Amino acid sequence: MTQNTTIEQVELGKGGPLVGIQGLGCMGMSEFYGETDEAAARATLEAALAAGVTLIDTADAYGRGRNEEFLAPFVAAHREEITLATKFGLVRSDDPRHRGIRNDRAYIRQAVEDSLRRLGTDVIDLYYMHRYDPAVPFAESVGEMAQLVQEGKVRHLGLSEVTGAELREAYAVHPIAAVQSEWSLFSRDVERSAVPAAAELGVAFVPYSPLGRGFLTGTFASAEELSEGDFRAQQPRFTGDNAKANRALLEPVREIAKAHGATPAQIALAWAQQRAQVHGLPVVPIPGTRKPERLAENTAATRITLAEQELAALEPLAAGVAGDRYPNMAFTSAAREA
Ligand SMILES: NC(=O)c1ccc[n+]([C@@H]2O[C@H](COP(=O)([O-])OP(=O)(O)OC[C@H]3O[C@@H](n4cnc5c(N)ncnc54)[C@H](OP(=O)(O)O)[C@@H]3O)[C@@H](O)[C@H]2O)c1
Repeated sequence: MTQNTTIEQVELGKGGPLVGIQGLGCMGMSEFYGETDEAAARATLEAALAAGVTLIDTADAYGRGRNEEFLAPFVAAHREEITLATKFGLVRSDDPRHRGIRNDRAYIRQAVEDSLRRLGTDVIDLYYMHRYDPAVPFAESVGEMAQLVQEGKVRHLGLSEVTGAELREAYAVHPIAAVQSEWSLFSRDVERSAVPAAAELGVAFVPYSPLGRGFLTGTFASAEELSEGDFRAQQPRFTGDNAKANRALLEPVREIAKAHGATPAQIALAWAQQRAQVHGLPVVPIPGTRKPERLAENTAATRITLAEQELAALEPLAAGVAGDRYPNMAFTSAAREA
């Protein structure tokens, strides 16, 4: 008998689309994590679909439009089979380290047209505000996003890196299908307010960087091992003494992986699914990979169940992590909760 290796589906928020319970982050295919083998990346996209992974995640900021353009042939071949998510609002410049935020009406209007053109489609299934700028009220930003839904350019709305209070305020303007923020064994600040608010409102959670940007998989131990220009070399938790201390924290992850005949990556992903059950909300992690064999490994994690004592052993990890998750925490929801 052949084993069914297709992952289960879940409703992405109240009234949202049905998607595979794990999505695919495409950011690394165009930028941030070193050289990409294009053929392998394209094979990964096909392998994802074959495994039942339908939530495909990109943003206009990734490669400054290149990631959306890269996805266009895949989108053209499989438009009806996928739930296509992209984002606006994180503004880049020729300086690769520069980040700005724009959420005003005129900017959103231009951004959606640019994303639709680059992706080669006439509708975006899930359109996220990548970062919130408190200077622009949700009545304006989500108001304009709601207008795009009315016009049929966008099907569902999402927010990234918002606090619980911000989610409630935005939701009052228009229903939000999903919040996408960093959530992993190493990054649990969202559990303070965003996750409880999402659970209460019936909003799905899409944990980004669920593998701690690869660190939780054990495939790199510190910034020194990364290739030149890799974005992770700027992240405080991957450099110097912090990296050394954080590496030691991974021991229980390795032990639990061994007990399951699994990999640390799979344990990190299984934890994300089970942690969401504790909070009572649908969750669709979007691990990023450019390799078909890792895609298979990651989706297989949806069939792992961690025992109570294993969850207990993983519980203290996040509190022990040394170093922030971004070089500039001002761009995170956590900064507005302090
Ligand atoms: N909303 C936001 O602000 C925001 C921010 C960051 C990311 N994101 C989204 O979230 C997605 C995922 O986050 P992420 O890519 O930053 O981090 P991640 O998923 O935690 O980790 C990705 C890294 O792990 C490696 N990896 C993946 N599967 C592996 C496995 N089974 N074994 C060993 N290594 C493995 C990948 O390398 P290979 O590619 O070489 O396999 C890559 O270096 C992104 O692609 C993006 O779509 C959103």
